[in-house]
Amino acid sequence: MSHDWPGPSPVTELRTEGLVHRYADGGVRALDGVDLHVAAGERVAIVGQNGSGKTTLVRHLNGLLRPTEGRVTVDGTDAAGLTIAQLASRVGLVFQDPDRQIFAGSVRSEVEFGPRNLGRAGAELRDAVSRALEATGLAGEEATNPYDLGQSRRKLLALASVLAMRTPVLVLDEPTTGQDARGLERVRTVIESAASEGRTVIAISHDMRFVAESFERVIVMRAGAIILDGSASHVFAADAWDALASTHLEPPLAAAIGQRLDLGSTPTDASLIRALGP
Ligand SMILES: Nc1ncnc2c1ncn2[C@@H]1O[C@H](COP(=O)(O)OP(=O)(O)O)[C@@H](O)[C@H]1O
Ligand SMILES: [Mg+2]
Repeated sequence: MSHDWPGPSPVTELRTEGLVHRYADGGVRALDGVDLHVAAGERVAIVGQNGSGKTTLVRHLNGLLRPTEGRVTVDGTDAAGLTIAQLASRVGLVFQDPDRQIFAGSVRSEVEFGPRNLGRAGAELRDAVSRALEATGLAGEEATNPYDLGQSRRKLLALASVLAMRTPVLVLDEPTTGQDARGLERVRTVIESAASEGRTVIAISHDMRFVAESFERVIVMRAGAIILDGSASHVFAADAWDALASTHLEPPLAAAIGQRLDLGSTPTDASLIRALGP
C-alpha cells in the first residue's frame, strides 16, 4: 500500500455497518449493531459510561478487533480484506493504557518504531520523530527509558509514537485521563494541529468540557449502541440531558449555565463571564 509522505495526508473515510462484537461464544455483546460514518477531517468525541463499548468500537477501526457481524470499511474497502499493517498506515490508535502500548527501551526508539515500520528512514524519520516529540513536550527525553517518565508523560509518549506515523486518522482512547493541566493543553494542541492538517481525530473521553471545546461532533454510547450523535451544541442541549443521564453523563457545567442564561449549550467562557454583568 502506498502512503503519501510527507505531503498532505490521503483522505480517509470510515464506516461501520451493523457492527456487532461478541468477546466470546455466549459472552457479552459489547457492540450491538453500530452504524457509523466518519468523514475525512471530522473531529469526533465518543462518550458513555464504562463498559458501553467505546474501546471495542474504536479497536475495530484499525483491525485490532474484527467484527463478529457487520463490517468496517476504510475508504469504501472492507477492512476484512486489509491487513493490520495496511490499516495501521491509515488509522493510528493510541491505547488508553500506555503500558499496553509502550515496549521500547528509550523514548526515541519507541517513537521511531511506527514510522520505521511504514518505511520511513533518514531525514524523513528524524523529522517525524522530532515533530512528534516537540508536540507532546518530550523533546530532550530521547534517551530516557519510558518507565522513568511518569504515567501522564508515558501517555503523551504513546501519543507521540502514533503521531509520528502521520496517519490520516488519529484515534485516542481516553487521552485526557490522568493528565494535569499542561498535559491536557498538549493533547488539545495536538488535536487542533491534526485537525488543521485535515486529519480525522476520534477521541474517547469522560471530560465533557474537553469534549465540548475540542470536538465538533459528539457520539454518545450506551450498552453497545449509539444513542445520540450530533454537534456538541445538540448533544449538550437540555432536551438531550435525560439521554446523557441514562449513560451516567452530565453535560459540561458551561452547557448547564449557558442554557439558563439563554447563551446556548456551548457558550464561551468570555460570554459566560460577560453575562454575569459588570
Ligand atoms: N477483552 C475483553 N474480553 C471480554 N469482555 C470484554 C473485553 N473487553 C471489554 N469487554 C466487555 O465489553 C463491554 C464493552 O467494553 P469496552 O468496549 O471496554 O467499553 P468502554 O470502553 O466503553 O468502557 C464491557 O461489558 C466489557 O466488560
Ligand atoms: Mg474504554
